[in-house]
Amino acid sequence: MAGVRRGVRIAGWGKYVPQRVLTNADLERMVDTSDEWITTRTGIKERRLVADDESTSSMATAASLAALKQAGTDPSQVQLIICATITPEYQFPSVACLLQSALGCQAAAFDLHAACSGFIYAVATGSQFIENGIYERVLVVGAETLSRITDWTDRSTCVLFGDGAGAVYLEATTGESDLRATWLGADGSNPSYLYMDSQARPSATTEGTAGESTCVNLLPPAPPQANVIRMDGREVFRFSTRILVEAVQRVAEQAAWKLDEIDLIVPHQANYRIILSASNYLGVPLDRFYLNVQRYGNTSAASVPIALTEAVAEGRLQPGHKVVLVAFGGGLTWGALALQWPR
Ligand code: ACO
Repeated sequence: MAGVRRGVRIAGWGKYVPQRVLTNADLERMVDTSDEWITTRTGIKERRLVADDESTSSMATAASLAALKQAGTDPSQVQLIICATITPEYQFPSVACLLQSALGCQAAAFDLHAACSGFIYAVATGSQFIENGIYERVLVVGAETLSRITDWTDRSTCVLFGDGAGAVYLEATTGESDLRATWLGADGSNPSYLYMDSQARPSATTEGTAGESTCVNLLPPAPPQANVIRMDGREVFRFSTRILVEAVQRVAEQAAWKLDEIDLIVPHQANYRIILSASNYLGVPLDRFYLNVQRYGNTSAASVPIALTEAVAEGRLQPGHKVVLVAFGGGLTWGALALQWPR
C-alpha cells in the first residue's frame, strides 16, 4: 500500500456536548460581569460544562462513536486516531490512547497540540497518512475540557470558554479528494499572549541555564495558580481578526476558488466580533459563516468539528458545496482547509 497516492473522503462527522449549561446570568453571580457586556463583546450567551464524571476522553469517545455511526462503520475499522487537545486528563498517556481503548480498536494513536487550531492541524496530518498510502481509515477528534483550566475568578477569560468534542472519520478514495487545499502557520514569538503553565517550565532561578534565547524567558513568572489559561485579550483579538482573513484568502487561492464561490465558512467559534470583522474584510456576507458561538462559547480544538457537524445537521452543507474550515489560537497558530463537501 505504501507509496500509493490517494484522495481523502470525509466519510463521517459527529459531536458531543455536555448537558450542563452555564448562562451569562450564572456568570453574573460568579464575577463582576453582565449579560450585556458578554453578549456585545463576544456574542456568547451560554456554554456547556462537563459533569464531574466526564472528561476529555469520555467526550472524545462519544463524538467519535457518533462520527463512526454517521459513516456507517464501526471502531474495528479505525487504523489511526489523532486527538487534538490542550486539556488531556494526563500529560501521558494521551487522550488518543484512552480513546483507542474505549473504542476497543487496534489503531495507532497520538495527541496533537496546536491549541484552538488543533483540529485543522489534525485533519491536515491525518490526511497525509491517507494521501501517502500509509492508512486508509483515520479518526480525527478535537476534544476539550477548558472548564478545568479556566480561572473562574478572572472575568476577562472565564466568560469565553466551554467544553465539548467533535470528530470526523476520513477514508481513502481513488476518486477526487474532498480535501482541496491546506494552509497552516505558527508564530511562537509572543507566548505571553495566550498560554498555560506546565510543571516542566523552568523556574525563574534556572532562567540562566535555560538560555536567554528560549521562549520561556519571554513569559512572566508563574503565578500561584499556574494551571489556568492566561490571555492578553486585545493582542489575541488583533491577531485573530488579521489571520482569519489571511487564512481564508490563502486557502481559497490554493484551491483556485474565488471568495464568492465559497458556500460556507466554518470558523473557530472564539468571538462573534472576530467573525464579523472577517466577514467585512473579506466581503463575504455573514450568512455564509456558520455561527454557534452563542451556544457553546470557545471550545478550542472542539470548536470547528462541533460547528461542522451542526452545519450539516441544519442543512447548511450540501453535496458539492465548497467549504472552508478555519481556526486560530494559542501558539500562536492558525490553519485553514478547503473542502469540497462529499457527494
Ligand atoms: N465583564 C465586564 N467587564 C469586563 C469583562 C467582563 N467579563 N472582561 C473585561 N472587562 C473590562 C476590562 O476590565 C476593561 O475595563 P477597563 O476599561 O476599565 O480596564 C474593559 O472591560 C475592556 O476590556 P478589553 O479587554 O479592552 O475588552 P475587549 O473589547 O478587548 O474585549 C475580549 C475583551 C472579549 C476578551 C476580546 O479582547 C477578545 O475577544 N479577545 C480575543 C479572545 C479570544 O478569542 N481568545 C481565544 C482565541 S484562541 C483560543 O481559542 C485559545
